[in-house]
Amino acid sequence: MQKLKEEIGAVLAPLIGMEVGQVLELLEVPPEPEYGDLAFPCFSLAKQMKKPPPVIAKDLGDKLSGQKGRLWGKAEPRGPYLNFYIAPKAYSHEVLKKAWQEGDQYGHANIGRGRNVTIDYSSPNIAKPFGVGHIRSTVIGHSLYLLYRALGYNSIGINHLGDWGTQFGKLIVAFKRWGEESKLKDDPVEYLYRLYVQFHQEVEEDPALDDEARLWFKKLESGDQEAVSYWEHFKKLSLEAYASIYSRLGIEFEYYHGESHYNQMLERVINLVQDKGIAKESEGALIIDLEPHDLPPVMLRKKDGATLYITRDLAAAIYRKETFDFDRSLYVVGAEQTLHFQQLFKVLELLGFDWAARCAHVPFGMIRFKEGRMSTRAGKIILLEEVLDRAVKMAREIIEEKNPELEDKDGAAEAVGLGAVRFGDLSNDRVKNIEFDWEKVLDFSGETAAYIQYSHARICSIIRKADGDLMAWNDEAAGRLEKEEEITLVKTLARLPDKVIDSAESYKPSILARYLIDVAREFNRFYHNCPVLSSEPEIKQARLLLIDATRQVLANGLNLLGIIAPEKM
Ligand code: ARG
Repeated sequence: MQKLKEEIGAVLAPLIGMEVGQVLELLEVPPEPEYGDLAFPCFSLAKQMKKPPPVIAKDLGDKLSGQKGRLWGKAEPRGPYLNFYIAPKAYSHEVLKKAWQEGDQYGHANIGRGRNVTIDYSSPNIAKPFGVGHIRSTVIGHSLYLLYRALGYNSIGINHLGDWGTQFGKLIVAFKRWGEESKLKDDPVEYLYRLYVQFHQEVEEDPALDDEARLWFKKLESGDQEAVSYWEHFKKLSLEAYASIYSRLGIEFEYYHGESHYNQMLERVINLVQDKGIAKESEGALIIDLEPHDLPPVMLRKKDGATLYITRDLAAAIYRKETFDFDRSLYVVGAEQTLHFQQLFKVLELLGFDWAARCAHVPFGMIRFKEGRMSTRAGKIILLEEVLDRAVKMAREIIEEKNPELEDKDGAAEAVGLGAVRFGDLSNDRVKNIEFDWEKVLDFSGETAAYIQYSHARICSIIRKADGDLMAWNDEAAGRLEKEEEITLVKTLARLPDKVIDSAESYKPSILARYLIDVAREFNRFYHNCPVLSSEPEIKQARLLLIDATRQVLANGLNLLGIIAPEKM
């Protein structure tokens, strides 16, 4: 696509007295294939040429009539546009060759040139449920992590664990009174939550517990050894439990810098804010008035001296800039925290940090799990684990039914199950609320990961059956494609690099997800109309290269969504 653009730019630029770069920026992909493959809009020339755009388009069309380039076959005016059509054979050759040469790097680019992007994602709270919001943050955040990495950025995943706050005072009290070490070890995440809930029940009868909890949190804050060792113990066990889910999902964080990591820096933040003169005391508390910016005030310190979530986020933002000198800093957190991030970024701006503009909140809506299939067991609080198990189990049943002969059914079920959960989330525009329908996300012919994975596995199987006929690149064969279904598929494959960029820049993995559905659809249409193995040797070679490029696009695209594409299923 880029080469095609450049070729057209080089032809048009001298005709209209523009820089090639300007022409490239103006070229657009027409909404309908019959309007060509790239269109040059003539509006911007109208003033200077003193002619209406359609006349300019027609003049240019006349000048180029009968001409063609290497990758484009003809140029035709249509209304205010000059439409360019590819030269099918040369263009297919170009696309297939690129996919072949770049292999698992096809779709990747070096836009980032090694610059750092920090991605704050997943970030559960110790002793509270790992709920729907954390599932979405984990899945979306991880895909953004992979997308930025593929674009040559150095992705830095940060788990901003909720590992500080008054709940730890409550947990210590609860554990000292009612806790059992063996139960804690058994299932720490769930057990800590139970203790937390129990504390809230008991405090109804015995309000003194609250004072005790406050006292313990104070001790923790001042570094009391006993308090700290409880806290470390709770944290360590919880982290181990989270780590096992992350590893199942193939996720690794560069840093587990939870909220507590910033404790030492809070003093400095407070001083900074005071030096800038943007904070004021109000009834003993320290607040920043954001009324001139149409935002509610931010409280940095309560009157008892305690700092808040946003105080730690301020420290974290500054720390990230100083430590990683990020090009962008992303926060993948539910839409319900939109106000929090508006306030955070505004305060950074007021502090004079121009990099505040490089911070972005990537919000998302809620998921509702459609009833019927999942029975949330009481006390089971890592919802993510339960969802994954459920999906894998269902995938296993479907695979058993569809392909009882398959060797590694468990492996395939894991890939399809986890793929269903991820894709069920990622294929929706993230700001919308999702209705998660178990039947739908596992439908092998629907708009699902399974459909894409299945298309991929089907191609792998054809290639296996071709029995070594696809071993090497074949220049001649790659230039033989011309049927409509073949060319349409080629054009679809050519779009992967742009889709990866769009997904990353707009923080929307859904763009890539929807695109992969298109690829799988175009592949199936092609395969329905164009036999591969049974066609004549010349055609067969060409089509094998085409399906191999398709295989590569599907695998690379799924991988960027964090989804595995098994070769058999
Ligand atoms: N732990 C928080 C929660 O569960 C999310 C943290 C998001 N990251 C941040 N830097 N605030 O709501």
